[in-house]
Amino acid sequence: MTRIALATASADLEARFRAATGGAFLPLPPAPLPSNPAHLFAQLDGAPAPDVVVLDAELAVDHALDLATLLDEQCPQIAVVLVAEHGPDLGLAAMRAGVRDILHPQAEIAEIQSVLDRAALAAQALAHTVAPASSDAPPATGRVISVLSPKGGVGKTTVATNLAVGLARTAPNSTVLVDLDAQFGDVATALDLAPEFTLADVVHGSAARDSMVLKTFLTLHETGLHVICGPPSPAAADTITSEDVSQLLQMLSLEFRYVVVDTAPGLSEHTLAALDRTTDHVLLTSMDVPGVRGLRKELDTLAELGMLTPARHVVVNFADKRGGLSVADVEATIGTKVDLRLPVSPATRVATNKGVPLLQSGGRDPVTKQLRRLVERLTIPETVTAQPDPDSRPPRHGRRRGR
Ligand SMILES: Nc1ncnc2c1ncn2[C@@H]1O[C@H](COP(=O)(O)OP(=O)(O)OP(=O)(O)O)[C@@H](O)[C@H]1O
Ligand SMILES: [Mg+2]
Repeated sequence: MTRIALATASADLEARFRAATGGAFLPLPPAPLPSNPAHLFAQLDGAPAPDVVVLDAELAVDHALDLATLLDEQCPQIAVVLVAEHGPDLGLAAMRAGVRDILHPQAEIAEIQSVLDRAALAAQALAHTVAPASSDAPPATGRVISVLSPKGGVGKTTVATNLAVGLARTAPNSTVLVDLDAQFGDVATALDLAPEFTLADVVHGSAARDSMVLKTFLTLHETGLHVICGPPSPAAADTITSEDVSQLLQMLSLEFRYVVVDTAPGLSEHTLAALDRTTDHVLLTSMDVPGVRGLRKELDTLAELGMLTPARHVVVNFADKRGGLSVADVEATIGTKVDLRLPVSPATRVATNKGVPLLQSGGRDPVTKQLRRLVERLTIPETVTAQPDPDSRPPRHGRRRGR
């Protein structure tokens, strides 16, 4: 059945629509018109996205045409009908805005029915054009890259945001970054974004079921990166389940080549749900004994849970020999190779405070160079870090402090 949404302030028009459709339409709040498709979907109380959207231009013709243009760009499978008095200027503007049909404000019930029937057919045809008939092959999925560490404050958000910006630059619309630190996520700050919609919005309502709607809820960063920021309040984290996370990442991996996930410290339910969908782990530790031992425990736990993918990228942050630990000590303790070392660098902290990642501003800072290498590792197809079998790791009491 065709789903129709109607935005009008006219009770009379609404009554004729009711008669024409037998009441089978979704009335949108009369005024003002939603400013973009995401707002329109947010007004549907979780109902599935409509196939046909009818906008009464009496509400504000320019506004209606702007919304029609955005629907045409972002949701091409929706057919838009404008309610307005026909005129040569309006006809041209409506055509440019991708409007399918124009309905006279005083149209009789039969005329409304025939316009809606035509729009429904157009929507069906559009749906086939946008999503061609599926073949037997499973859909291609993008890489899900989770950035994790047992301890807090070791640079997960720094690495996740830079990696995401670096990957986004490899191809337009290729990358989405998800802030899965649902309580205290600070991706929005690190990217200087003021999101309209956050993680809590995309896992509920129609965005959770329809990837077209989901995409309109993403925040666009100036580098072309799409972002799902953490919720504004820690309490919202309680409304997000592991299933929500799992489903979200699956939907995103069908739409984007790279899905980068920033996580909270440790192995929360949300992180475990993400790990279930993860193709690449970026594992971080600071260069100190508690951090390194924590990473060893995390690796052991993930191995026990069967959640370690072969594609692993181990990053030691705040690398500084003067602390009494060498990279060899770290490798001996965690039983696996360290792939990247990020030295302590004031530029990193400045970048965080400004909200401009190092890979956005460029430069020759040593951390910037290492982050570029990480992007390269992830863009090479099938990057697999050769890892020894976990059983063949050196014993836990291997080399430690001061060697
Ligand atoms: N190599 C580095 N040199 C200097 N400062 C760094 C470096 N890496 C990260 N920082 C700074 O450390 C702080 C913490 O980094 P970040 O927020 O990325 O850590 P996190 O692991 O995401 O923390 P949390 O666990 O709280 O989410 C930030 O101010 C960041 O700029
Ligand atoms: Mg963080």
